[in-house]
Amino acid sequence: MRGMKMATMDQDTLKALMSISFKHKGISFDKNYTSPELIDAVEHMEIREDDVFLVTYPKSGTVWTQQILSLIVNEGHRNGTEQINNMERAPWIETNFYNGDFKSRPSPRLFTSHLPYFLMPKDLRFKKGKVVYVCRNPKDAVVSYYHFIKMNPNIKCTVNWETFLDFFMTGKVFCGSWFDHVRGWYTHKEDFNILIVTFEELKKDLRSNVLKICKFLDISLDDKAIDIVVEKATFKNMKHDSLANYEFIPNNMLDKNKGAFLRKGIIGDWKNLMTVAQNEMFDKVYKEKIGDLPMKITWELNEETAS
Ligand code: A3P
Repeated sequence: MRGMKMATMDQDTLKALMSISFKHKGISFDKNYTSPELIDAVEHMEIREDDVFLVTYPKSGTVWTQQILSLIVNEGHRNGTEQINNMERAPWIETNFYNGDFKSRPSPRLFTSHLPYFLMPKDLRFKKGKVVYVCRNPKDAVVSYYHFIKMNPNIKCTVNWETFLDFFMTGKVFCGSWFDHVRGWYTHKEDFNILIVTFEELKKDLRSNVLKICKFLDISLDDKAIDIVVEKATFKNMKHDSLANYEFIPNNMLDKNKGAFLRKGIIGDWKNLMTVAQNEMFDKVYKEKIGDLPMKITWELNEETAS
């Protein structure tokens, strides 16, 4: 796909995005939070049978699912006795936020990743460990990503929406192309022990999806425990839960004067930002890049579109 006309590109935004990124194995990453060495090390990570990996493309409901998974897996979080934030409960495997001492973590371990399927720990391909992959409709993902990138303290200019959209459509944003990420995971799903859920399903019926995740993890919770998981994972409650809302991230990593991590949490917010022309361009690219996959995308509430 060709990007939008260069004339619409904002040079400050372009320079700012490029200055903090590096490319590794075809994918762009934020150089402040990871390195080629860290990414390569992931491949050799030792997996335990009961490890659970949450994998998402950015802005697809990662933190939400960190909350859901950690509440399901660990009663201490459910009954509030363990004051551990989401990021610690399910650490990222490809970033430098931790010292990488995953071995000392008790089982069952939860991990989080934004990596494409081919950069994940090798042993996952032998169906050791489980993967929960969360997918969000890409129009909402790009809008959420745009608001999120504005909170990046290393970007000193005002991020231009049109330029950012072009970056997203051409896969130059951190973690690469949404289209490639989703296509890769969907078309290789048989290689993994994987459950695919969508942001929109979670939004429309959180309880059923919590039950679905429990079943996949072979964890049986009573009705009361399920109710607590659901209650603690609603947008409203997470927004005020200091262990879940990512407000604990320091401003030098995420500038909370410029927005909130838990921003709106809705389906269809893209309609508030995309122009008609941008939407038409998006639909065209979507069709070209991923239209052949039997995926059901919910673009807005009360309307499901099979694509
Ligand atoms: P918006 O920016 O559209 O509000 P990620 O964790 O992958 O970065 O995704 C962040 C997006 O998930 C944000 O979307 C955020 O508001 C939304 N989100 C987080 N927790 C949520 C919840 N409990 N319910 C609905 N949306 C949630």
